[in-house]
Amino acid sequence: MKATDQKIPRFDVAERVAHWLAALSFLYTALTGLALWSHKLYWLAYVFGGGAVVRGLHPWGGVIFVAALGMMFRRWAKQMRLDAEDREWLRQSHKYAVHDEEGLPDAGRFNAGQKMLFWLQSCSAAVLLVSGVVLWFPETMPRVLRLAAVLIHPLAAIASIGGIIVHIYMGTAAVPEAFRGMIQGWVRPGWAASHHPKWYREVKARSGKH
Ligand code: HEM
Repeated sequence: MKATDQKIPRFDVAERVAHWLAALSFLYTALTGLALWSHKLYWLAYVFGGGAVVRGLHPWGGVIFVAALGMMFRRWAKQMRLDAEDREWLRQSHKYAVHDEEGLPDAGRFNAGQKMLFWLQSCSAAVLLVSGVVLWFPETMPRVLRLAAVLIHPLAAIASIGGIIVHIYMGTAAVPEAFRGMIQGWVRPGWAASHHPKWYREVKARSGKH
C-alpha cells in the first residue's frame, strides 16, 4: 500500500499475521496456564476442554506463541532499539499518561513505551520457553531445575500478562484507531501525525521521493 492523502500504511500483512497469531496463542496459553496454576482458576480448564486437554495443549500454545513472537522479533528488533530520544521520552512518560505531551520528544514508528513492551515480552517469552520446557518434561530434569522452573515460570507469566493487559488497553480504548492499523493495516495521516510525528514525517518524505 502506498501513502496517500487518506491512508498511511502502518503494518503489512506479515506483521499483522504474526501479531494476531501471537495474540491468540498468548490468550490461549495465558488462560490455560492460569487454570493449571491455581485451584481457584481451575474452572477455566472446563472452558478449554478439561484438565487433561489443557495439560496437553498448554505447552503447544506456548510454542506457537514463541514462534509468532520470533517472527515479530525478526521483523522489529532493530526498530525497537531505544535511542537517546526514547530515554528522554521515558523520563517524561508521566506527561504521556496525562495527555500533556508538550516537550515530549516526537515518537517514531513506535514510542518508547511500545518499545519497552516489546522487550518485556521478548525477555519474558525466552524465560517462559526455557522454564516451560523444564516443566514439560519434568522426569528428565534435575530436581533443582524443576524447583527453579516452578518458581520462575509463573513469575515470568505474571510480568507478561501484566504487560499485555496494559497493551490491550492502550491498543483499544486509550488510543482509538490504533486497532484499525493492526486489522486493516493503515491509519489516517492525522492519527500518524499526532501519535507518531517523527515516523509520519519519514513516511511523507519517503512517499514524496517516489
Ligand atoms: C489480544 C489482544 C491484543 C490487542 C487488542 C492488541 C492490539 C495492538 C495494536 C492496536 C497495535 C498497534 C499499535 C500502534 O499502531 O501503535 C499492537 C501492536 C503491538 N502488539 Fe498487540 N495486541 C494484542 C495482543 C498482543 C500480544 C499477546 C502481544 C505479544 C507479545 C502483542 C505485541 C505487540 C507489539 C510488540 C506491538 C508493536 C508495539 C506496540 O504497539 O506496542 N500484542 N497491538
